[in-house]
Amino acid sequence: MFTNDTLKGRVALITGGGSGIGLEIATAYAKLGASLMLIGRNEERVQAAAQAITEAGGIAVARKTDVRNYDEVKATVEATVEKFGSLDILVNNAAGNFVCPTAELSPRGWSTVIDIDLNGTFHGCHAAYPHLRQSKHGGSIISIITMLGVTGWPQAAHAAAAKGGILSLSRTLAVEWGGDGIRVNTISPGPIGDTEGVQRMYIEGGRGELEAKKTALGRFGKKEDIANAAVYLASSLGSYVTGENLIVDGGRWLKYVAA
Ligand code: HXC
Repeated sequence: MFTNDTLKGRVALITGGGSGIGLEIATAYAKLGASLMLIGRNEERVQAAAQAITEAGGIAVARKTDVRNYDEVKATVEATVEKFGSLDILVNNAAGNFVCPTAELSPRGWSTVIDIDLNGTFHGCHAAYPHLRQSKHGGSIISIITMLGVTGWPQAAHAAAAKGGILSLSRTLAVEWGGDGIRVNTISPGPIGDTEGVQRMYIEGGRGELEAKKTALGRFGKKEDIANAAVYLASSLGSYVTGENLIVDGGRWLKYVAA
């Protein structure tokens, strides 16, 4: 268990922070003392998330921002620093995805997912950099990817390419920005049972049990498993960890390789 002051005095911006894994990370960060800016395309959703965190005793504000639009992202980063005085942690969590055979994928469908996932992550990193390098705790960037971006992801070439690109971007920035005290890491969740993605892609289609068995542990993960990893990487507990891809997948990827 982390202590209540693990993230005290830190300011975090979380993209896609209004729902799913992003909201779980936000909730964990708030409980451990961080101040939060939650962003997303759906204004109502991010505002409701910030309000729930505030009502539970945390510090959170929200702002409608589309990560595809660099100017919007930059303005939101500036607003965060204006509100809280610094930016210490950036979590690139916003993602778009749909299942589609590549031969049937339109160029616009491809670009849409690349724009949200890969370009959105670049926008966040680029806009946050001047502030992260001034963090008195040392800046931390965490991007949520998947090992499917490494192995390949049939029926989701756009998301596979984007996630693979984010891994490469993160390793590059870890080296480029290490001298500025900024750590850059990724987290690769496996199948997380209480997310919309797994509900939609596996459980609703009747593949839940089969997919759970594909992990070494034989079960789906929970959103809090990812939030715990995101706390570790954001906090001083992970202060010598950079350029790492922390795989939190119940051994799904290894079992795939071993099979
Ligand atoms: C084929 C599709 C499509 C589909 C969209 N497109 N959905 N093509 N099959 N199911 C095409 C459209 O036809 C269009 O191209 C282009 O993509 C843009 O579509 P829009 O709907 O205009 O885009 P937009 O409104 O911006 O929506 C973005 C989106 C959408 C990514 C396409 O699905 C979305 O917002 N999803 C919500 C976020 C989300 O997906 N979260 C899940 C992340 S979970 P044309 O050529 O027709 O104009 C995750 C982990 C999963 O990623 C892990 C599982 C193990």
